[in-house]
Amino acid sequence: MIVNGKPQRTIWLGDDGVTVEIIDQTRLPHEFIIVEMKTMDDAATAISDMLVRGAPLIGATAAYGMALAMNNDSTDDGLKNAYDVLLATRPTAVNLRWALDDLLALLEPLDAGERVAAAYTRAAEIADEDVEMCSSLGEHGRGIIEQIWNDKGKPDRINVLTHCNAGWLATVDWGTAMAPVYKAHDAGIPVHVWVDETRPRNQGASLTCWELGQHGVPHTLIVDNVGGHLMQHGEVDVVITGTDRTTAAGDVCNKIGTYLKALAAADNNVPFFVALPGPTIDWTILDGVADVPIEQRDPQEVTHLTGLGSDGAITTIAIAPPDSPAANYAFDVTPARLVTGLITERGVAQASEEGLAALYPERVQ
Ligand code: MRU
Repeated sequence: MIVNGKPQRTIWLGDDGVTVEIIDQTRLPHEFIIVEMKTMDDAATAISDMLVRGAPLIGATAAYGMALAMNNDSTDDGLKNAYDVLLATRPTAVNLRWALDDLLALLEPLDAGERVAAAYTRAAEIADEDVEMCSSLGEHGRGIIEQIWNDKGKPDRINVLTHCNAGWLATVDWGTAMAPVYKAHDAGIPVHVWVDETRPRNQGASLTCWELGQHGVPHTLIVDNVGGHLMQHGEVDVVITGTDRTTAAGDVCNKIGTYLKALAAADNNVPFFVALPGPTIDWTILDGVADVPIEQRDPQEVTHLTGLGSDGAITTIAIAPPDSPAANYAFDVTPARLVTGLITERGVAQASEEGLAALYPERVQ
């Protein structure tokens, strides 16, 4: 994507060939700050403190985290420690485990002296592959948007509703749910996006609005409870979200509140699509409600708000009585029966075991 007129990814290797650079997403949209990661601990902190977030980007960051770890200690102990530390950073997005397993399988059989170069090479490949997958799923999703637009007689505006940030900031480039939107916009389809603010961390307001604005895509920020009302009034043509982990049977775990949007979409006959690259599928589980670990974060994210103060400084304010307990569930699961289709790099799958198996036959055990 283009930022301030320049092509930009969310993660890249620095000029010294060792340091890895990222955008600090906790500072957007107010400040565009690039952070250098020089150690595996830097990468672990970037993931757990959400300087980087979004399932595909978490995976790419973990891969580079393994490379940074090998640069410091490429012994068997160093490898195992890096795997354990990075795996513990966030529990829900399965791309984290996928990337770490990939690096571990590659590095374990190698001599310690070969591990640094191999890890950097593979991390760069994982980043490049993510860009290709997101671009490709974006094309498949553009086809869906175009079809709906054609079926409705090419209205002046086609309305997509999205939740959280599944744009290019959640991946290495292009995004998942927003890749079809960028491709449709670039193809001249008059797409407009309703952006859920996405409490408590407001990734929709701070990240999705920012990146859509940078690309010139018309959009409107709404609070999280508006979607159902808009659907009842014919103001949503399609919902497209991302996912942090989708089971082999098509249950979709995504940012908290996604399930309620899927229920409203079903009640109003609005198609509900989920966009994801293959590494977001967890082939080891079928039942998302029972088996996906749901991250619970600091209750302060619920009791407080962070934003730009009138003095121009980023500031945090309380919105609840200090003694009221708060619960902060970060994700929920939308059962496959509520999902119209899964937009992948290989095409659009039915959200079912058979649908996913047809697209990924090599994963069927
Ligand atoms: O907690 P986050 O910001 O890492 O959550 C990730 C998300 O932004 C969404 O759940 C997204 O839809 C899936 S990641 C492409």
